[in-house]
Amino acid sequence: MHGQHDPKRDEVPNAISTQAEEFSRRLTAIGQSRLAAAAQAAVDGLHALTVELRPSGEEFRQAIDFLTEIGHYADARRQEWVLFADVLGVSSLIEDQNSPRPAGATPNTLAGPFYRADMPEMPLGANISRDHKGEPLEVAGRIIALDGGGVGDAVVEIWQANAEGLYENQEPDKQPEFNLRGRFRTDPQGQFRFTTVKPKGYALPSDGPVGQLMSALGLGLERPAHIHFRVSAEGFETLTTHIFDRSDPAIGRDAIFGVKPELMAEFRALPPNGGKRKYALDLTLVLCPRRRGETATSGRR
Ligand SMILES: [Fe+2]
Repeated sequence: MHGQHDPKRDEVPNAISTQAEEFSRRLTAIGQSRLAAAAQAAVDGLHALTVELRPSGEEFRQAIDFLTEIGHYADARRQEWVLFADVLGVSSLIEDQNSPRPAGATPNTLAGPFYRADMPEMPLGANISRDHKGEPLEVAGRIIALDGGGVGDAVVEIWQANAEGLYENQEPDKQPEFNLRGRFRTDPQGQFRFTTVKPKGYALPSDGPVGQLMSALGLGLERPAHIHFRVSAEGFETLTTHIFDRSDPAIGRDAIFGVKPELMAEFRALPPNGGKRKYALDLTLVLCPRRRGETATSGRR
């Protein structure tokens, strides 16, 4: 694209600075590459922003300090840069672009940071709540193909937060190992079922620079209550998705943009039996055939 006239650059003539033009000329002289294209797009975007906002020197310094602080908060246990990409909607967009699904198939979403690949296989109907804290939820699901047929012998991995909105690996001293996690295999009709507790929504970390930015913008960090699923089956693309509680007050403002109409479900209250309230969730997840050249595993994080 470089080295020839690019009509896209004329669409926003006021947003291109002479410096961005010169940067483009220097890159073009070196040659084309994916890295050069990325650098050019980033420089164009930054210059357009600078031309539009005309930041003062002090504002520029604040922006540099903010980015520096993100780096200081990022370590092996916490990735503040990923959090930044998440709340800007970039992580979700990249997932959508890399995991397109045909109409009728369940959308793929981010796995999030709490997935564990080593969760134990359990018999159909088992209870994945190992501490029985919370309101019981009976889940009945079916894995089907685009033609509506059940997918037998599919592996369904499940993980979720507890009734306080916390995952087992966030508080390993308080929750039993593998609490609210399980791996099931569908029956020949593609059905699976398990008992759990109704999950609570949670908020992303607010104590770092990303949380401070969101607070300054007046935007929330909430994620509506959900259960994570990963479904693998021979001949189908692996599906990583969430099912959200439609009645959660935060359903319209998921901080990482994971909610889609097909992923909202009713966590139905059952008639009271004894003291505890009980809920039921019925769901159908639709797989699409594996694209040529794909391997059985997928999922970025
Ligand atoms: Fe989650």
